[in-house]
Amino acid sequence: MNIIHVGLLGCGTVGTGVARILMEKEPLISDRVGAVIRLKTVADIDLEKDRGIRFENGMLTKNAFQVVCDPEIDIVIEMIGGEGVAKDLILKAIEHKKPVVTANKALLANHGNALFKAAAQNGVDLAFEASVCGCMPVIKTIRESLVGNRIQSMIGILNGTCNYILSKITNDGSVFEAALAEAQAKGFAEADPTLDVEGHDTAHKLAILSALAYGMEINLPDIYVEGISRITPMDIDFARQFGYTVKLLAISKSLGNAVEARIHPTMIPFENLLSSVNGSVNALTITGDAVGDMMLYGYGAGMMPTASAVISDVVDLARNRISGASRGRIPMLSYQPGRIRKIPIVPIKEIDTHYYFRFAALDQPGVLSKISGVLGNYGISIKSVHQKGRKTNGSVPVVMLSHLAREEYVIKALSEISSLDVVSDTPVLIRIEDEAGQD
Ligand code: HSE
Repeated sequence: MNIIHVGLLGCGTVGTGVARILMEKEPLISDRVGAVIRLKTVADIDLEKDRGIRFENGMLTKNAFQVVCDPEIDIVIEMIGGEGVAKDLILKAIEHKKPVVTANKALLANHGNALFKAAAQNGVDLAFEASVCGCMPVIKTIRESLVGNRIQSMIGILNGTCNYILSKITNDGSVFEAALAEAQAKGFAEADPTLDVEGHDTAHKLAILSALAYGMEINLPDIYVEGISRITPMDIDFARQFGYTVKLLAISKSLGNAVEARIHPTMIPFENLLSSVNGSVNALTITGDAVGDMMLYGYGAGMMPTASAVISDVVDLARNRISGASRGRIPMLSYQPGRIRKIPIVPIKEIDTHYYFRFAALDQPGVLSKISGVLGNYGISIKSVHQKGRKTNGSVPVVMLSHLAREEYVIKALSEISSLDVVSDTPVLIRIEDEAGQD
């Protein structure tokens, strides 16, 4: 039987999961593939750590560059992460004509255009299923299963840490810091939690998905990103009273010659399936012109779910090799390289959506008319107004929901309102995604 040799770079949490599947399930995988996929070498800076795996003598090395240059290695798996040595190793492997599997979303979001070009020029594939939503086969679904569709939109919960935190605040009344600490202890938060809570990890994933869905170059810098660190239990409570849940959503919509791509806390109605996605899981709704709405749901992080996605890529590359199609049978970024375009992302100020506003206002006559007067001057129409709760520090929360409004005018109006003498504190704005309320 054919033997395909694999080199693993980085044996941290996910790397260990990958090694475990490759070693413990070698017979199962070979029954399915018709070849043996054998883990030959594992490179890591820590050779002493007990990973619960029995590596044979000579399998472990500190020299990752030796692995990517080893003529016996057929497939390289990069599990180091970050944008430094991981990038150099991937490029070196590509230079040595080795296909590479990576889960490194930050690297792909920031340097993907160059890396995919280098892979194509060297006649190898760069596979990345595990870079977005862990175990969920989102890349394969968009690139292969939905190949007959024009993708119209993708709306999803792509960060388990944020969803865990928001679920904890919503369902248990936890405070933000405690919920974040729990997420970190459970091992799905990034090493630097600001990447999670400020929305950047979600943006990395949306940049990759948008490229695949619309045939555009990866464009991280133009994605609007707002995280969850300013979401308060009070706003989550108000949202509930209006029939909404607050989620950190990745929203991407095709507008033909432009794309909307934004990450921000969003209120969605209870009836929206994403509203019931609780805890550390991810979910993505994809709308295509043939399929209509479809949804993927599952663990977006963690050792074994992410390793499962890595193995699916390894097997794809092995099958290519066995069938003699060394690369390019399926275009890495879903479109033929010559068909990938620069499609602009609409600036956030040009977005039209619905809004929730909360003002800390003095409880006295004429206040509402002053606030709504400013909103009216900017053409922002109010759908409902609620003044609820007790007076705190001399002010009461005044909550308004808007009809469809242009972000640019909303920002100008809120800036003017915050300087009114009847308003204390910066107004709160949360965007609403409510198909039933599209007016
Ligand atoms: N920190 C990420 C999350 C892990 O919480 O979803 C996978 O990207």
